[in-house]
Amino acid sequence: MKILAIESSCDETSIAIIENGKILSNIISSQIDVHKLYGGVVPEIASRLHFDNFPFVLMEALSKAKIDIKDIDKIAYTAEPGLIGCLHIGKVIAKTLSSYLKKDLIPCNHIEGHIYANAIENNFSFPLLALIVSGGHTQLFIIKKHLDFKLIGTTVDDAVGEAYDKVARMLGLQYPGGPLVDKLSKKGKDTYKLPFPKHDDSLDFSFSGLKSAAANIIGNSKVPINKANFAASFQNQVVKILLDKVAKASKLYSVKMIVIGGGVSANSLLREKINDSCLRNKITVAKPRLEYCTDNAAMIAKLAEEKMKLRDKNE
Ligand code: KG4
Ligand code: ZN
Repeated sequence: MKILAIESSCDETSIAIIENGKILSNIISSQIDVHKLYGGVVPEIASRLHFDNFPFVLMEALSKAKIDIKDIDKIAYTAEPGLIGCLHIGKVIAKTLSSYLKKDLIPCNHIEGHIYANAIENNFSFPLLALIVSGGHTQLFIIKKHLDFKLIGTTVDDAVGEAYDKVARMLGLQYPGGPLVDKLSKKGKDTYKLPFPKHDDSLDFSFSGLKSAAANIIGNSKVPINKANFAASFQNQVVKILLDKVAKASKLYSVKMIVIGGGVSANSLLREKINDSCLRNKITVAKPRLEYCTDNAAMIAKLAEEKMKLRDKNE
């Protein structure tokens, strides 16, 4: 079965084609260069750019997969969550293709897609713990069997990617700041003392206190801030907070496997430290390759394929 998947929830226009577990193409057209000028994603511009970009992305996805559009069996798309206008464009394109080709539509959830990005190159073992860290979400899920998602922890305020982007801006770095803070942190040392919000028994996160503390230190400092040291201190603290909750959840649910997903799962320190902690606790860890960390349609294609398997089993 060949599934064509569409992702347009934020500022990446992406189409992927999957056939029996193999990603044949995953074309991602990023709008970052445009949004950078405004310091963040402008929803109206993002929707318009999706509309302009889709024909080219579709042609390239088909050509890379060496597939004629008439050979596609199903059309998957990101239905939620995301920027409403952007999701709408993806849905309209998906519906148009589905009625032209007379093929079924498979609506997909973006966050579940980030989790299934890990299934592209790994087999899941259950119970599985998923940490989703992106520009809009910071969530922990426990999954006891395929497609059975239970939310067990979430941020009570900002998402971790949002905190990265805001702290990056305070340091004078461009949007999206996460990758730039990550890079800069490698040149610095953990010297600035930052708080650990929600350091309690719950599985919830909080990042607004960390962001305010960063603003206070940067704004009130009598001497110039050492940006590399600040980036290293912030990154260390964020990874400490994330892994503390991951450790609590993995113990509580006796998990066999941990996966990470979303843009911040590209973070070098998180990728390194989660390995160490899983190794210590004899838990298998999977991380999406970098192309599958930030928004992409391959993860939606993989999720859609799993949904079809489950439907076939239940029929
Ligand atoms: O999943 P994603 O592409 O879009 C959303 O669904 O939000 O995540 C984007 C977020 C941005 O906040 C970006 O700064 C962050 O992921 N990000 C990173 C890194 N790469 C991307 N944050 C920290 N370290 C990175 N290497
Ligand atoms: Zn995302």
